[in-house]
Amino acid sequence: MKTNEEWKAWGKDDPLYGVASWAGRRCGKDNEWADVEFYDLGRSDWRDFSARWDCYGYNRDSCLEIGCGAGRITKQLCEKFQEVHALDVSIDMINYAQRNVTGNNVTWHVTDGTSIPLQDSLVLSVFSSHVFQHFPSEEDGLSYFEEIYRILKPGGTMMIHLPLHDFPSVNRKFSKLARYLYSFFLVLTSVKADIRRWQMRRGGRKYMHGISYEAPQLYEKLKGIGFDKIEFVNFPMQSNDDLHSCVFATKT
Ligand SMILES: C[S@@+](CC[C@H](N)C(=O)[O-])C[C@H]1O[C@@H](n2cnc3c(N)ncnc32)[C@H](O)[C@@H]1O
Repeated sequence: MKTNEEWKAWGKDDPLYGVASWAGRRCGKDNEWADVEFYDLGRSDWRDFSARWDCYGYNRDSCLEIGCGAGRITKQLCEKFQEVHALDVSIDMINYAQRNVTGNNVTWHVTDGTSIPLQDSLVLSVFSSHVFQHFPSEEDGLSYFEEIYRILKPGGTMMIHLPLHDFPSVNRKFSKLARYLYSFFLVLTSVKADIRRWQMRRGGRKYMHGISYEAPQLYEKLKGIGFDKIEFVNFPMQSNDDLHSCVFATKT
């Protein structure tokens, strides 16, 4: 995945700001993240996430976390689940997490960013936060869902946090135009991303790519893969009062 490049750089230079890019919190600034605040933020965010997952229903035996970063949420998952698998594309993120997440029920995996290095039907739960929004394109996210389906046991559920959008459906011509303009915008952002990566390789500022998923298209794709009981949920997080969206689904 093209985006692996910037995530390896964030993991190496500033893992905590790479994960929680709050103003003034960069490494070396007066108010840089302290470990204790960073992991407290994880506790608070997990409280919000798990409250919604509790309503949907999930099993606490085994969980895979996709894009564990510095272990902000992994620390919480280790307390909730008997067995945790945490994966990331950045070995430096994983090293940081390993120093701070001390549970002996977690196994760490480095991934190439497209596949999940686990056997079929291994876990009953899959969680991810602030990761699917950073893939190069929606298609990359959609193929990751096939991998999730493969490694989930029957009866297992996923909670994936990701930005969602839809086009206004009040007028068909208008929605068609909006979709067309949006596809043009995506081409431009992809070119911009290539330029920013090129600059980064030459010592320029680090880049962070962002995308969002069209909800009805994602719904159809998940159904096509075989997922059942698909639900989209929006809720505010206590930590920043922003609205966040998640998709839940079950492998029956
Ligand atoms: C914004 S951080 C979020 C970390 C963690 N989920 C959290 O909420 O604290 C995004 C993480 O996803 C990882 N990542 C990016 N692309 C990935 C991919 N294709 N597969 C797995 N992890 C990925 C990055 O290396 C980074 O650690």
